[in-house]
Amino acid sequence: MTPPIPQPEVRLSHKDLLTLADLDAAEIHAILEAGALCKLRHREGKLFVPLLGKSLGMVFHKPSARTRISFELGAFQLGGHAVLLKDEDIGIGTRESVEDVARLFSRYFDGFIIRTFDHTLACRLAEHATVPAINALTDYEHPCQILADLLTLKERGLLAPGLRVAFIGDGNNVATAWAFAAGKLGFTLAVASPQGYALHDAVVAEAMADGARSGGRVLPLRDPGEAVRDADVVVTDVWTSMGQEQERTERLEAFARYQVGEALMKRAKPEAVVLHCLPAHRGGEISAETFERHQRIIFDEAENRLHVQKGLMTLMMGRR
Ligand code: CP
Ligand code: NVA
Repeated sequence: MTPPIPQPEVRLSHKDLLTLADLDAAEIHAILEAGALCKLRHREGKLFVPLLGKSLGMVFHKPSARTRISFELGAFQLGGHAVLLKDEDIGIGTRESVEDVARLFSRYFDGFIIRTFDHTLACRLAEHATVPAINALTDYEHPCQILADLLTLKERGLLAPGLRVAFIGDGNNVATAWAFAAGKLGFTLAVASPQGYALHDAVVAEAMADGARSGGRVLPLRDPGEAVRDADVVVTDVWTSMGQEQERTERLEAFARYQVGEALMKRAKPEAVVLHCLPAHRGGEISAETFERHQRIIFDEAENRLHVQKGLMTLMMGRR
């Protein structure tokens, strides 16, 4: 018999999920567990509708495939309904004040996600809303992505003591969420980035403060070879994030030595896996050969966005 989703017992301490730093290790594990059970129920074709009659608002100020699809399908599969909100219609902070939009959302929705540039906009909406707000990617952080990545590692038995993860590339939103995860869950994260593109010092300090309790470490490095040494997992992300398109030429130059390819992977453990949040640029941050060799886990990772976010919505918005 399928075990029940641990919904009634677990309450997240924050109304919102704006950054992984908002969660503690037990909450992260509860979300992963709920995601795994949602996945199992879906595979078994079992109806599970804790969002019956509930609605999710979805604000996108940047493009999205995975995030939009997985939240919309996830809300539907849980018995709820998702409404796509384009900024040309809503005009958060332009057509209407942030505070009033937050009040409006709180009257219509049982929760909302926001993908935007400025993290403080997501925080301000969350602050003025009485319903849960979920960060669906800002320039600062991408918590839902790393929850899916952690579920993907857990499924393979890799989320275990001694885990060593190497992140090769830009120390922005995806790397930041990985750093917080390392601090909370107690694993080692080595991040190799070119000069000027490293993790923020404050992020490293916060992750290391958590790591002092959990045994986790964040090692900001320059050399990709050093970062991947003995790694179980190698993670990369685009060199030019959404909104940085005008910096593309200088970024291509800065990141030229930071491609995850077969030569670099030889320095990791022989059984090391590669994760990529997607979309991927073959010949950019990852070679075509390495991408194809690891495409199965990379698309498991993409699929797990759906399951882990269903777990998250169950815990944050589900009927109790
Ligand atoms: N990984 C991710 O967030 O993908 P999208 O930008 O397609 O949503
Ligand atoms: N760092 C990337 C992640 C895309 C999912 C970006 O912000 O565009």
